[in-house]
Amino acid sequence: MPSKEKNIKVNAIENIRVDDESYNALLSLLRSKTGLNFEYYNKGFIEKRIKARMIRVYCKTLDEYFRFVSSNSAEIKSFIDGFTVNYTFFFRDYDVFETIQDLFIHGLKVSRKDIRSDIRPDPSKLAKFRTKKNAAKNLAKIGSYSDRPARNYIDIFIFLNQLSYYQKMKKPRSEKNCINIWSCPCATGEEPYSLAMILDNLQSQVPRFPKYRIVASDIAHEAIAKAKIGVYTNDSMKEISDYFERRYFIKQKTHFGHTNLIDEKIKKKIEFVEEDVTQGHKLYHKYDIIFCRYLLIYFNRINRHKFLKIIEDRLVENGILILGKTETLFDSWGNLQLIDSRHRIYIKSHSKLY
Ligand SMILES: C[S@@+](CC[C@H](N)C(=O)[O-])C[C@H]1O[C@@H](n2cnc3c(N)ncnc32)[C@H](O)[C@@H]1O
Repeated sequence: MPSKEKNIKVNAIENIRVDDESYNALLSLLRSKTGLNFEYYNKGFIEKRIKARMIRVYCKTLDEYFRFVSSNSAEIKSFIDGFTVNYTFFFRDYDVFETIQDLFIHGLKVSRKDIRSDIRPDPSKLAKFRTKKNAAKNLAKIGSYSDRPARNYIDIFIFLNQLSYYQKMKKPRSEKNCINIWSCPCATGEEPYSLAMILDNLQSQVPRFPKYRIVASDIAHEAIAKAKIGVYTNDSMKEISDYFERRYFIKQKTHFGHTNLIDEKIKKKIEFVEEDVTQGHKLYHKYDIIFCRYLLIYFNRINRHKFLKIIEDRLVENGILILGKTETLFDSWGNLQLIDSRHRIYIKSHSKLY
């Protein structure tokens, strides 16, 4: 590691210069060592990451950091690990999951009153994990959602008909007559597992529930490995309702504190894939539902378009795309058309909806 700099100001973020030549040389080096194309990402995001690492390993210039990376494979790993921001938790944006559950309930033509399910986290849980101000905001939000009528469903009647079509299928095993869902990126698995819990819970109560398959992918090797193990700390459980926590987790006391082990039945519902999605998707499926939450924010404009094309191609006609709450394609992108702005839900349709 380069010698520690006594004067911390030398290494303050605002003092680090990133010139194009050294920046491009570093990206090429990282690409040759890892196979990952960092040019797909937002430049500001990568720069921040580089500067943070430089400060961490006491490099004063980008060239010095270049030399450090060239001869230090542990540094490459640290760069990638921090870069792929695996932050996630169960039922992140729980109102989005409520909406997806509502879609299934409507599509399968069952009455909400006949379904036992509760996705909303206990308000005291929110208060514990969020700042007081946010907790208060969220409590108000929970109140306003109560018995919220189905919105925009008129726009997605074709998608809903698709669900009941699958329900009537006699040979549900093949890819064509089963609901295919893709969670991309899935990070450490909390998102696809949340979905699997909702569907399993519905399946146990709705007659002739259609077959479904959930594929979950991420670029980060360690995140996928963790997802496959399915053991979570309380941080991941911060917004899960008591209903789902009790139903699908076994609490374990270990040397490292309390952990939560996900039900084996839920684990089996998901096929995890490690891949760089900017290079395409390894599996051949088309999907009825794609969760692509909190990934687009990291991509630059050109590659966001390239990636959206992959997503659009992989959706069936009338399939739906769910983005993260801070992400938007505005009213439409290609054949992806906004149907629910609050929950960032788009439908793929060749005909104009509006
Ligand atoms: C913030 S997490 C989002 C997880 C989850 N969708 C959610 O909303 O909680 C972002 C994930 O994107 C993954 N990622 C970044 N670049 C990727 C790429 N090119 N291909 C696949 N996954 C990628 C990261 O490894 C990280 O796990």
